[in-house]
Amino acid sequence: MDDALIIYVSIHHGNTEKIARAMAEVLNAKLVKPWEVGPKDVLKYDLIGFGSGIYFWRHHRALFELMDKMPNARGKKAFIFSTAGLDIPVVNHLALRRALKRKGFKIVGEFSCRGWDTNGILAKIGGINKGRPNEKDIERAKKFAKTLKGS
Ligand SMILES: Cc1cc2nc3c(=O)[nH]c(=O)nc-3n(C[C@H](O)[C@H](O)[C@H](O)COP(=O)(O)O)c2cc1C
Repeated sequence: MDDALIIYVSIHHGNTEKIARAMAEVLNAKLVKPWEVGPKDVLKYDLIGFGSGIYFWRHHRALFELMDKMPNARGKKAFIFSTAGLDIPVVNHLALRRALKRKGFKIVGEFSCRGWDTNGILAKIGGINKGRPNEKDIERAKKFAKTLKGS
């Protein structure tokens, strides 16, 4: 099995961290925050996952900042994941997908699910998606990670 790295940010309720940990278990991947890894060191891995909650319709800016500093990935395999109040990956993943492609990554998969969201006025009603990601989401994340093993 190739070496895998998962780079993630999870600042709201630790929702994305649950998904990142489940995937890391399957892939035997190292888990890091974008600010904990050197831009050149990222490319020492064969498969790299990039994920976070969705904050104002895109991934956390630390992922984009890391990407800006990285050398060209020359076709290296990457995957994207997220948790969000409104799970609309076609929109939510757009910016990161573009940034990864521009950097020369080959995107081999994408995963998303709902996450507990108490942002702004949602806090007044206890938020939305309470309890998400749940066991089913975690299982789905693990299944997704298994498909990456042969990618
Ligand atoms: C400041 C802020 C902005 C957010 N913006 C969005 C958004 O634009 N779209 C969305 O679907 N969810 C949005 N959310 C909800 C988060 O994406 C969701 O709660 C996610 O699961 C958080 O993941 P985390 O706990 O790993 O940080 C926002 C949350 C916060 C705190």
